[in-house]
Amino acid sequence: CGIVGYVGTERDAIDVLLDGLSGLEYRGYDSAGVALASDPLDVYKREGELSALESAVPVKDLRGPACGIGHTRWSTHGPPSDRNAHPHADESNRVAVVHNGIIENYQSLRDELSADGVAFTSETDTEVVPHLIGRALEEGRSPEAAFRAAIDRIEGSYAIAAVFADSDAIYATRQASPLVLGVGDDGYHLASDAPAFVEYTDRVVYLEDGQFARLEPDAIAVTDANGTPVETTVETLEWDAEDAGKSGYDHYMLKEIHEQPTALRQCLRGRVDELSGIVTLEELDSVGSVSDVQLVACGTSYHAAVFGASLLCDRGVRATAMLASEYSSERVPVDSSTLVVGVTQSGETADTMRALREANKAGGETVAVTNTVGSSAARECDHALYIRAGPEIGVAATKTFASQQVALTLLACHLGGEATHELVRTLRDVPDQIQTILDTSRATSIAQTYVDSDAFFFIGRGSQYPVALEGALKLKEISYEHAEGFAAGELKHGPLALVTEDTPVFAMVTGDDEQARKTVSNVKEVNARGAPVVAVTDGQTNVDRYADHVLEVPPSTEIGTAITANVQLQLLAYWIAHELGRSIDKPRHLAKSVTVE
Ligand code: G6P
Repeated sequence: CGIVGYVGTERDAIDVLLDGLSGLEYRGYDSAGVALASDPLDVYKREGELSALESAVPVKDLRGPACGIGHTRWSTHGPPSDRNAHPHADESNRVAVVHNGIIENYQSLRDELSADGVAFTSETDTEVVPHLIGRALEEGRSPEAAFRAAIDRIEGSYAIAAVFADSDAIYATRQASPLVLGVGDDGYHLASDAPAFVEYTDRVVYLEDGQFARLEPDAIAVTDANGTPVETTVETLEWDAEDAGKSGYDHYMLKEIHEQPTALRQCLRGRVDELSGIVTLEELDSVGSVSDVQLVACGTSYHAAVFGASLLCDRGVRATAMLASEYSSERVPVDSSTLVVGVTQSGETADTMRALREANKAGGETVAVTNTVGSSAARECDHALYIRAGPEIGVAATKTFASQQVALTLLACHLGGEATHELVRTLRDVPDQIQTILDTSRATSIAQTYVDSDAFFFIGRGSQYPVALEGALKLKEISYEHAEGFAAGELKHGPLALVTEDTPVFAMVTGDDEQARKTVSNVKEVNARGAPVVAVTDGQTNVDRYADHVLEVPPSTEIGTAITANVQLQLLAYWIAHELGRSIDKPRHLAKSVTVE
């Protein structure tokens, strides 16, 4: 989702808001809306593309005051529809609210407000906010006090902005969701991301978690949670409207690689209790008894499925990962105790949909593990587990793979017993560890060293096997170079014949168990045949002795290093493709969502 706001005297607010929303298009779209601060409030919202909203707003001459907020929705609660589109208003239409994030305690607030007689009009988590504000207004509070009182009650992640019928100011705050203010010559802006207003101003103030902003036609005020004024710094953006959607990155892919810490926190939010280690996936509470799990998927999602199947097996649940396009031919028996899990970022891949439909027909219970609320997979499966990675624009999947790994880890805990404290710590630490890799990776120089190689091989065992497969897929997708991933143990059964001094082998060696030591032996075999070796390692074995280069990952559990090691391979693929000048976000012949079998 993305939010925008504008208050000023010179410009037409609707124009500025619609421009802003189109600048946030890359954040995903399934509905959009705007609200203007007039008495009564003017709220316009529509399901679908921005053009649907454009035709719903009044023509220029009839437009009123220049203070408003807007939203593009990318559903997390409730399918896309006019009703679920933001802004949401209270019952007497005195306040309208836009929100980006997830309100974790919305269900208890909704129950409380409903018991108080509030009639909800949408299925969103957001709608509790205008009703809480409305109640505080009824108690006689000012708009600002009512806004603060409502924010006090909510938990979760949010960037929220509100306009009132009887105030020409915008009130906003944030907690773990981005929000930036724009300082223009003739008014003030706010947005989830600066691309929304970069055509009007390049002067910005980044709001911090827990801070509140009041935007009026001639002033902005930033305060802390107690209302004490906070000193702000106005910074100047270094990029222009042209590269704004990529927030200054050269490619969406690189931006999305860097979004992984946030994406994973979002995936975990409200699902793991750090103290008890209890994993709560309410969306799967009604799954019946399960004798075996079949994970079906394509491409990158298949690699996540292989990872997920091995975690389930570790927890004593019979599980296999299958390529969706081969599912019909494999004729694996399905009955009512079979859980068929479709792993699909888009929720629309034709091969995966076919496999899920067949499983449904055969009487199996189905779950969609997807990034897309309202997608075919989410609608047609019995259950949906959202990975909450946010929209991914680069054709090569990056942050959605990591989010699938985390979501499938949670699924494995849900079906195979509780998470251990060690696992809870792993999941808690992984976002920061990825950040460390992003800050320190030497993948750029390794890419420069090996860019002219004849071919690239990736090897891994256990949880690192799907990572090796994914590393090779990422590289071939965006660099057009020959890359293959193998189970480390299979190397000697054929692929070793391909190894020369011009074929670097990337070896995933993490932990210090028997598996890791066996992979070190494979590295020695490769090394003895003259191929350069790059070890992706947490330093727990002596693999660095046999490797020409090392890409480091922080020590963690098997699950943690399988998530972080992949980030090094994403960066490697990116920088090799960059060196070769490839079309990284839109590689030749490939599509993000393949809706033909
Ligand atoms: C296409 C994309 C891949 C993706 C695969 C599965 O081939 O290019 O990046 O992994 O589809 O997509 P899904 O949306 O089902 O995860």
